Amino acid sequence: MRYYVCTLFPDMIHQIMGTSILGRAEKNGYISVNTVNIRDFSRKNSMRVDDYPYGGGAGMVMEPEPVYQAVQAALQRAEADRRAEASRRAADGRSAGAEQRAELDRRAAEPAQTEESREEKSTPSGRRTRVIYLTPQAKVLDQTLVEELAREEELVLLCGHYEGIDERVLQETVTDYVSIGDYVLTGGELGAAVLMDAVSRFVPGVLHNDESSQFESMQDNLLEYPHFTRPEEWHGRKVPPVLLTGDHGKIEEWRYQQAVARTQERRPDLLKNSFTLHTFWYGPQAAEEYAVCLHGRISRYGEIQNYNRNKLIRSRHVLGDQELLLFVEGAGADGDVPFEERFRNLYGTGKTLAWICSGGSLTEKKMAFLADRGFRLLGSSRYSGTETAEQVDLLALDIRKKALHLAGR
Ligand code: ADE
Repeated sequence: MRYYVCTLFPDMIHQIMGTSILGRAEKNGYISVNTVNIRDFSRKNSMRVDDYPYGGGAGMVMEPEPVYQAVQAALQRAEADRRAEASRRAADGRSAGAEQRAELDRRAAEPAQTEESREEKSTPSGRRTRVIYLTPQAKVLDQTLVEELAREEELVLLCGHYEGIDERVLQETVTDYVSIGDYVLTGGELGAAVLMDAVSRFVPGVLHNDESSQFESMQDNLLEYPHFTRPEEWHGRKVPPVLLTGDHGKIEEWRYQQAVARTQERRPDLLKNSFTLHTFWYGPQAAEEYAVCLHGRISRYGEIQNYNRNKLIRSRHVLGDQELLLFVEGAGADGDVPFEERFRNLYGTGKTLAWICSGGSLTEKKMAFLADRGFRLLGSSRYSGTETAEQVDLLALDIRKKALHLAGR
C-alpha cells in the first residue's frame, strides 16, 4: 500500500507512521508513506496558503490552487510509483503471485459498483486513484470502509487546516470524504494517521501472525470479548474458569456470548449491524473446505454444518431476522436428493438474509425456492475450489457489504 499525504505538516505524519508496527511495515516495504507539503505550492512570499473567507466570518480558508497543485503532485508520484512497481514486477517475471496481483490491479481499476455516492475521478492514465479528504463533515470511518480501502494499492489523503479548504478544489479532486469521529480536530493529520493505521493492518505482511487481524469481532460489528493472561488470580480476581478448560468449542461459545453482552452494554447501536452467520454446506470435501474458508473470512463466530446430517434435514430449522445463511453446495451434489427435498425443513422469517455459493449449477429455481421459504437473497456466486485467499476475501467483503445494504443499515 502506498500512501500520499497532502499536508502542511509532513513531519507529523512521518513521526506517527515511522513508529512501532507501522514503522516496521514501512522499513520492510509493505507500506510506503509519502508526503506532499501543500506550502511548497504557495505563490506568496509569505508562503501562506490561506486567505479570508468570501462573505466574511471567522477563520481562514485554504486556497484552491496550492491544494490542487499538491494533489496533482501526489497523483503524479503515485502514477510514477505504480509504473516503477509494474516494471519491477515484470522484471521479476510473472510468478503466480504476480498473476493474482494483476487480477487485483484489474479489479482495482474497475469502478466500485456499490459506492453510488462516489463520483469517479481519473488520473491522466485513466486509472482511478482515491483521493480522501479528512473532514468531520463526512461518514465516520468504520471497519467495512477500512477493509475496502485496504484493497487499493495507493491512497491519496488530503489534510485540511483552519476553517477548511475552498469548496471548488474539493469538488474537482476529492473522491471520498472521511471523518474519524463526531468531534472537530485542529487538522486532518491525526485523521489521516488513524485511517492509515487501521488500513495498514489489513495489508498482507504488516502484522505478524501473533498480531493477526484476520479474526476480529469488529468485522462482525461486535466488540472484542475480554482478554486475560497470567497470573490465574490477580488482586483476588480469577480468570473465568471456562478459559482454563482447554475445550475450544466451549471457549468460542463463551467468547461469542461475552462479545454480544459487551456490545449490548457499551455499544448497543452496533448490534443492529450484526448478523449471526450460519453456513450450511453439502457435497464433497472441497465444499466443506470452501465453506470453512469463506465463513472464517466473513465472521469469526457462527456455525458451519454439513447439511447432509440427518439431524438438520429432519428437524425444522428456522433462521431469524439477524441471521445470515451461507449456503455452499459442492459440484455434483444435487444428483442424489432433489434440492427442494433436501431443504424442505429450512425456513427464514422473510427478512433472513441468504447467499448461495455453488460449485455446480446455480439455477433460478433454487433461488426462487429459498425466496419462497422466507429468505432474502443477497446474491450468489460460483466457486471452483482454486480461488486464492484474496479472491475469497473480496467475496467475503462483498457479502458483508451487501448484507448491511440490503438490511437497510
Ligand atoms: N479534521 C478535523 N476534524 C476531523 C475529524 N473528526 N475527522 C477527520 N478529519 C478531521
